[in-house]
Amino acid sequence: MLSKKMQEVLNSQMNFEIYSSYVYLPMASYLKAKNLNGFYNWMQIQIQEELAHAMKFHDFIVDRGGDVIFEAIPKPNSKYNSVLEIFETAYNHEQIVTGRINDLIETALEEKDHATNAHLQWFITEQVEEEASVLSVVEQIKLYKDSPNGLFLLDQELAKRVFTPPTK
Ligand SMILES: [Fe+2]
Ligand SMILES: [Fe+2]
Repeated sequence: MLSKKMQEVLNSQMNFEIYSSYVYLPMASYLKAKNLNGFYNWMQIQIQEELAHAMKFHDFIVDRGGDVIFEAIPKPNSKYNSVLEIFETAYNHEQIVTGRINDLIETALEEKDHATNAHLQWFITEQVEEEASVLSVVEQIKLYKDSPNGLFLLDQELAKRVFTPPTK
């Protein structure tokens, strides 16, 4: 059974993961409109991953006998001026998520909720990967920005990303 406080913050994170996919959707639209189909592929997978994260929180809340509460999802920023701006924004967003996961663990420890703490360990590892994968794109965009073929080559590279559903 989840404490009232734990249920509240887990629901908040489930909704934030849905919001994360919503943050990435206008980025995908921009990339598609620019015919950067590899970048678009990368971002589409990011969107799917965020929804999968939301479902992981969803399933955990239900498994622990909690109530799932869906909130209104805030409107995401839809105005972007460059690929670099998109990926720097995505990197900032992932750092916010990491901070939230750390706060959730603090709450789990305060509530002496070891099952939730164990569940959150998956997200700790996942966020290391999330930050690293976005940061590597940021770094590569910066590296290639003065080369006319750079963005094209990076686009081909990002076309290779495939979606792997997270483990239960
Ligand atoms: Fe996520
Ligand atoms: Fe993420």
